[in-house]
Amino acid sequence: MKGLFITIEGNDGSGKSTVIASLKQELAKLDIDVIYSREPGGSYVAEKIREVILDNDNIAMDDKTEALLYAASRRQHLCETVIPAINEGKLVVCDRFIDSSLAYQGVARGLGIDNVLNMNQFATEGFMPDLTIYLLVDPQIGLNRKANQKELDRLEHEKIDFHTKVYNGYLELAERFKDRVRIVDGNCSIEEECSRVNNIVLGYIKERGM
Ligand code: ADP
Ligand code: TYD
Repeated sequence: MKGLFITIEGNDGSGKSTVIASLKQELAKLDIDVIYSREPGGSYVAEKIREVILDNDNIAMDDKTEALLYAASRRQHLCETVIPAINEGKLVVCDRFIDSSLAYQGVARGLGIDNVLNMNQFATEGFMPDLTIYLLVDPQIGLNRKANQKELDRLEHEKIDFHTKVYNGYLELAERFKDRVRIVDGNCSIEEECSRVNNIVLGYIKERGM
């Protein structure tokens, strides 16, 4: 039996890590095999690519180079981590995947959703999530949450205009990929945001017979 691939998307500071931690607690109560991963990264080589992408010293990085590096990291992550787990019947929960490239590189960097999607096809060979949750939070609120938390990486240092474009990108993508995308409004308390996500995921895996 094939496993399931669920991805969590959203602006920086939308609460992805927080909801995944809560989901982990809920899923631990069930008798299923789950692995948690993230992009960029999620395997040894992919994590090395992540360091290059997010390094604050790499201000000279061209937008297309950036898009290609995210796709390279994705390819390695799929081959080493995600696809083997899915073939073993596991549930894979991943913090970001291809929709991040479509929103950040396709829309916010202005490369175009279709260009970035086509470029990613080479990396993914059409492998897509079964379910994707978009956490939608006002981009300024997301950045404020992050600012309190840690040192910002190269992408997080982008101005609010960039993050607003990312947010609008997700809205556009939600329309385009209606079949696999569920929107969660994250402008609420942590408890409420986690509970909304947990309900969707638990309902979905039950429906899929896992
Ligand atoms: P992401 O992984 O999407 O960048 P995080 O889960 O790391 O976001 O959350 C960023 C910060 O915002 C953390 O300090 C977290 O505790 C806080 N946070 C997450 N969700 C909420 C929420 N709904 N309301 C207020 N703060 C939140
Ligand atoms: P992440 O570690 O998820 O950051 P955060 O926890 O702050 O949300 O991702 C790092 C950054 O990489 C984030 O700003 C989003 C960006 N990103 C892209 O621009 N394109 C992509 O394809 C991916 C996966 C991430």
